[in-house]
Amino acid sequence: MTINANGSALPVNGSTKVSHSDGIPIELVATPAPEKQTNVKTLPPSFYASFISAESRARKPNSIRGLFPLEKVPGVISLLAGKPNPETFPISSLQITVRAPPEDGTSSQVEKTLDISGSRMAAGLQYGSTTGYEPLVAWWEGLQTRTHGRTKGEGWQVSMGSGSQDFLYKSFHALVNPGDYVLVESPVYSGVLPILESLRAQIIPVDTDSSGIKSSSLKHILENWPALRPFPKFLYTVPYGGNPTGLTTSTERRREVLALAQKYNFLILEDDPYYFLYYGKALRPPSYFALEGELEEVGRVLRFDSLSKILSAGIRIGFASGPKPILDAMDLHTASANLQVSSLTQVITHTVLESYGYEGFVKHTEMVSEFYRQRRDIFEEAMHRQLGGLAEWSTPEAGMFFWFKLLLNNTSSQTIEEDSEELIQSKAFENGVLALPGTSFLPTGGKTAYVRASFSLVDPNDIEEALKRLREVVLKARGEA
Ligand SMILES: Cc1ncc(COP(=O)(O)O)c(C=O)c1O
Repeated sequence: MTINANGSALPVNGSTKVSHSDGIPIELVATPAPEKQTNVKTLPPSFYASFISAESRARKPNSIRGLFPLEKVPGVISLLAGKPNPETFPISSLQITVRAPPEDGTSSQVEKTLDISGSRMAAGLQYGSTTGYEPLVAWWEGLQTRTHGRTKGEGWQVSMGSGSQDFLYKSFHALVNPGDYVLVESPVYSGVLPILESLRAQIIPVDTDSSGIKSSSLKHILENWPALRPFPKFLYTVPYGGNPTGLTTSTERRREVLALAQKYNFLILEDDPYYFLYYGKALRPPSYFALEGELEEVGRVLRFDSLSKILSAGIRIGFASGPKPILDAMDLHTASANLQVSSLTQVITHTVLESYGYEGFVKHTEMVSEFYRQRRDIFEEAMHRQLGGLAEWSTPEAGMFFWFKLLLNNTSSQTIEEDSEELIQSKAFENGVLALPGTSFLPTGGKTAYVRASFSLVDPNDIEEALKRLREVVLKARGEA
């Protein structure tokens, strides 16, 4: 079986031993040479052979989409695609008003009007490339280089999906065979669990604490891995402002996790929608994607970025950055599932980002993270007033969540794990406050007294009242009301 997202016939470049999967021999098609020859050593395409799922290997290229790039060859007259003629479309131009970051020397945002017309509008109304609108992909590649220090042509590429969720789904499908082992941090973003469960992955939880994922727990799991069991294919982790914990993994832990990934041969799926929402006092830790760039060999990190928390959640744009063979497998999935992300939202997004420029974009994200820092502070002050002595928590340093443990037992011995589920789902709701019980985020089920509260949308004037209502039900549960 061969894999090649763009449909062209390429020579096979050898295969590798299968260590994670079902023993089916696999060959991956050689990938075209990177644009730039550099000294960075990248893992060869054959390395990924044992990682790619049988489902993905069986997926055939979309024969029309694979030929789209040839339409751009100078002098070629294309009779290829069934693309509609945009002259028949009713929308001829768009005008959008954006709040642009403050210009130098000023402190307030300025409103700007941006026009989308001509060839840009035509691109927005037409089918486009599976991997994304080229100018937007190029903009994001430039941002990755600026943000994570990874140079183009050094073993990574960028593709676009309908939010990171789309790419999480496609990456799991690209990698997981039924029965494969995968590592996930615990508690974990609950949006990945139904996907992994439906793929019948064997989920191994890795503990977290106030410094993020516990590399010591990961090490313990791997050192004690049963001899005949295939090693896990990947670790899924949210390194900044984790969902639900709101916590950020320290640099030291990240380095340890990377070293373990090398030693035990697994990939790191770095899901990072809260990267730009970091507001911690300490220096921001580098991403796994950046840290990998310091190693002798790159190609184990698959990074997911999202515009949902910084530009618009409704625009549905996310990016995957990582090794070509895995991105090709995900793009192949896109080509057969939904063809591409909406061209119109990509063109609008590119127009906005281009008007910001990289510096404007960074300023914008700083304003966004400062907004959430202020909300966090208001929320935490109210937490101290209402739930002091009734809950325990670590202060989040990124993102929009508080993850706190309710002390439901008023005796000093808290040996048995209490469960917040009933209290949050029924009693708190009946008392007029809605939050998520921690059980939703446990990868393999169980009880927990933890609760996730989001402070992103709640009106600051309602925070005190919401937590007061929660206090009332906690006091009742403790027999103190
Ligand atoms: C950790 C995490 N990953 C992925 C997503 C999905 O984001 P998107 O809107 O980019 O699909 C979310 C959404 O809340 C999230 O918290």
